[in-house]
Amino acid sequence: MQSSQTGITGHYSSGNLLQAIRAGLKAARTKSDASDVDLLGGVDEFHIGGRTATEALADRVIPGPDCQVLDIGCGIGGTARFLATRYGCQVTGIDLTPEFVDVGNQLNADLGLGNRIMLSVADATDIPLGTDRFDRVTMLHVGMNIADKDRLAAEIARVLKPGGIAAIYDVMRTGEEPLRFPVPWARDQTMSFVATPADYAASLAAAGLSPDAAVSMRDTALAFFEQARARMAAGGGSSPLGVHLVMGQDAREKVANLSAMVEAGTVCPTLILAHKPV
Ligand SMILES: C[S@@+](CC[C@H](N)C(=O)[O-])C[C@H]1O[C@@H](n2cnc3c(N)ncnc32)[C@H](O)[C@@H]1O
Repeated sequence: MQSSQTGITGHYSSGNLLQAIRAGLKAARTKSDASDVDLLGGVDEFHIGGRTATEALADRVIPGPDCQVLDIGCGIGGTARFLATRYGCQVTGIDLTPEFVDVGNQLNADLGLGNRIMLSVADATDIPLGTDRFDRVTMLHVGMNIADKDRLAAEIARVLKPGGIAAIYDVMRTGEEPLRFPVPWARDQTMSFVATPADYAASLAAAGLSPDAAVSMRDTALAFFEQARARMAAGGGSSPLGVHLVMGQDAREKVANLSAMVEAGTVCPTLILAHKPV
């Protein structure tokens, strides 16, 4: 692993995540009849818009059951569990952070989903999986940690089947101002590689994919941050299954910085779909 990648996995690791999530799930079950996959949505969808954003992305690209999906940078597997249970997909997830993969696989085993989802440790720029293998590739809030977008795009293009679609939902640069740190994906600029929608489109096109026009998710983001602020103002505090469990002790500062940058137009969560020719 490169030294910058060691920094990234250190940034995301805590050492006691599984116990915290299992305890949070137990507490959440006493207050709600929602399914475990839905209850976990508060902690395992580590991107702006949470489950709502995942649903919007999936509704655009997931054709139905039996779809083979690769989720790049799967974290603790929230998107994978949602795609497997809502759409009947078979999901493979890869992520650089061993603790996230381990927690994700343990949660899948707890929920009886181990036969439909397989998560493993791997680098998105060197994916140890076959060529032309997946109907869909999803990637949510991961590219900000990856410097070499050309290599990332080439790997996405390689593993997609002809006719397949990649759905990339990342925080992208839309203004010139310096970034504020920390943010949810990085402690400082040594592990942050935020790029413009045009940079992504150029890398995807160079890899042989046809990218659609980028879709701004700014309104979703502003509503998401506003809801979070309203919850806090109402004294809601941190739920036992909130995303702070994966974001760490400085979660509030990270979210405040990100929210301020989205409001100022410095960055914007953006969705790009890219098609592999038949
Ligand atoms: C902000 S989290 C998003 C996790 C997940 N996609 C989600 O939305 O819940 C970013 C994830 O990208 C992973 N990651 C960063 N660089 C990576 C790389 N080169 N290859 C694979 N995963 C990577 C991190 O370990 C982390 O789990």
